Amino acid sequence: MPALAKQQKPGEKTRIWSAACSSGQEPYSISMAVEEGMRGILSTRCNDADILATDVSSSVLEAAREAVYDRLSLMRGLSQQRCNEFFVQRDEDSWVVKDSVRNRVRFRPLNLQESFYLLGRFDVVFCRNVLIYFSTELKAEILRKIHGVLNPGGILFLGSSESISGLSDLYEMVNCNPGVAYRAKILRPPA
Ligand SMILES: C[S@@+](CC[C@H](N)C(=O)[O-])C[C@H]1O[C@@H](n2cnc3c(N)ncnc32)[C@H](O)[C@@H]1O
Repeated sequence: MPALAKQQKPGEKTRIWSAACSSGQEPYSISMAVEEGMRGILSTRCNDADILATDVSSSVLEAAREAVYDRLSLMRGLSQQRCNEFFVQRDEDSWVVKDSVRNRVRFRPLNLQESFYLLGRFDVVFCRNVLIYFSTELKAEILRKIHGVLNPGGILFLGSSESISGLSDLYEMVNCNPGVAYRAKILRPPA
């Protein structure tokens, strides 16, 4: 995000897609990181973002829109500081995500096997822990379609056990230390 901010105009929003968002933890976590980045908590300030969050399941999207999580969900990697800052406790065992975090995220249904044509273009795509459900051919097709909606040089994050296997013509690996991401290569027409 700070690297992107250096190329962006002031006020320009980063477009982010959480492509299999399940019950919302991923897009809301991204939104919290954006909020911290905008305040300069990361080493460099970053721009605000629009986050599109999609999933094939209408029931998980319904839960995601509600943005209510129990203690067990909050204990899975969320710091106490982020809990205090970005959630309001509703009762003994439920916390709701604050509006400032929710307002950045828009949910809609999407099957990754369908066209991405109407989604527009993105600077960053998260497609984590869903490609494991698909055949090698379908996985390659989805990764090609994601390349088609990434801005040149845009970044793709996959799950830790997933890779772009066989698509090095489309993506180059970027070491994030820890972890890796994949940068969309700019395709040049054949001479
Ligand atoms: C294991 S969760 C991953 C959630 C999140 N990305 C993460 O890493 O924590 C997988 C999600 O993929 C969704 N999914 C499965 N098949 C899909 C498809 N064809 N298109 C879109 N989403 C799909 C499921 O509904 C589920 O919410």
